[in-house]
Amino acid sequence: MAASCEAVPLRHQQGNRWKERRMTAIKATVGIDPKTDAATRSLDTFNMSDPKYFRDDTWQPYFERLRREAPVHFCAESDFGPYWSVTRYKDIADCSLQHGVFSSELGGSAVIEDQPENLDHRSFIRMDPPRHTEQRKVVSPMIAPKTLANMEGLIRQRTQQVLDGLPRNETFDWVEHVSINLTSMMLATLFDFPIEERGKLIYWSDAAVCNIKAPDAAVRSEEERQIEMAKMAEHMSALYEEKRKAPPSFDLLSMLAHSNATRDLPPHEFMGNMVLLIVAGNDTTRNSMSGGLLALNEFPDEYRKLMADPSLVDGAISDMIRYVTPVMHLRRTAKQDTELAGQPIPAGSKVILWYISGNRDETVIEQPNRLIVDRKKPRQHLSFGAGIHRCVGDRLAELQLRILWEEILRRFPMIEVMGEPVRAYSNVLRGIRCVSRDRTDIMPPLLSPPIGASRHSSVVGRGGSFGIALVPWGEELA
Ligand code: HEM
Repeated sequence: MAASCEAVPLRHQQGNRWKERRMTAIKATVGIDPKTDAATRSLDTFNMSDPKYFRDDTWQPYFERLRREAPVHFCAESDFGPYWSVTRYKDIADCSLQHGVFSSELGGSAVIEDQPENLDHRSFIRMDPPRHTEQRKVVSPMIAPKTLANMEGLIRQRTQQVLDGLPRNETFDWVEHVSINLTSMMLATLFDFPIEERGKLIYWSDAAVCNIKAPDAAVRSEEERQIEMAKMAEHMSALYEEKRKAPPSFDLLSMLAHSNATRDLPPHEFMGNMVLLIVAGNDTTRNSMSGGLLALNEFPDEYRKLMADPSLVDGAISDMIRYVTPVMHLRRTAKQDTELAGQPIPAGSKVILWYISGNRDETVIEQPNRLIVDRKKPRQHLSFGAGIHRCVGDRLAELQLRILWEEILRRFPMIEVMGEPVRAYSNVLRGIRCVSRDRTDIMPPLLSPPIGASRHSSVVGRGGSFGIALVPWGEELA
């Protein structure tokens, strides 16, 4: 495989082509280049909670300046009230480790946005010890290394089926065909949920976390969100009751139903834990699958390196997870007057851990704005958080991604992204939604075949949507 790979030309030779195009478009629309804006505006006016920075993918120069000049920064006014931004790697890690001072429970929300007052869907990600410890212990075995070893065969078989069933010689949407498809099957397995109804899990996950102001939001108001969440709770409660009556089995619902710590959760906590497990195991891995592919297209030299040496896959997927940072921030609340990196923080303050910034901290990570498939310490990143709340599903996510890329590398010399991705309007999840046919205005024209293209290069029709051109081994495109 290695020899053939070397001959495969990638058309995105210049790497950041989309970014340049987007920056030009943004400059034309708002009259200012993000780099200039970030460098010249007063730090007092920085408000990184605005989802537009992530939809437009313009956040980098702003966080760069914050890390340099105001690493623990106070924003006095935002749609979410006043808050502190923690932007350096080390400070984010320190804050996460001091769970006695920076509480996950106190503010009542895991993210910058407060929960509506009439709503309290508390899950263990929003609890401090001892309740956090008890509830986390219940679900951990489901995603422990031994269990994962047993799941590997099933994940591989499904991945192979999905990849073998992809459309050939035409553009298609990677998010829908691969990322959503694979992660929703995994989620159905974890819950022992009927696989043919897995679309419901995806819809509930979208409805639970979408920004209601986003143009493609699954729900348009908090009321609508609550109605959909209540339907989810009703559906899951029925399954839960079945699990409660049946002997224990190895799935999340059964584990929750048969453990002393969780069997009699009040309804709002049951609902909270359902939302946590559905969202945590779904959007995150999904966006790593889509974002990793985008990143490899952005850095074609790295793609070539990986194709030439598939043994780099473990490090490559870790760096994809870092580079993408699927969960951009989470929140803590100061329990007492304290300080972080020399900055006094009063009790009750909302403290935002910007993992997306920490993962690009140039003082810790070499060339942080590049995907590098053979980094020396690829698992050194903050994408899974740190401390007692560190992601329980990290090994499962890595396993799914590793298998996906192993199977891709066995089949396809290149997967070429044919259009600019559409990013979610969110400040929490770095969502990629490559689904919008009505965004043809932002599609760059399809590129012509490179000079001297080998038979592996692709010439595809636009086909009404944008997505990925897939060029299987040995198949020529018409
Ligand atoms: C690339 C994929 C993933 C990313 C980037 C990710 C990210 C994170 C982060 C940043 C946290 C930290 C919370 C904190 O410090 O407050 C977390 C917690 C959590 N994750 Fe993940 N996650 C991923 C995949 C998964 C999967 C596959 C599952 C399960 C099926 C999962 C389940 C959880 C749960 C239950 C928690 C709460 C842990 C606690 O509060 O103790 N995650 N995740």
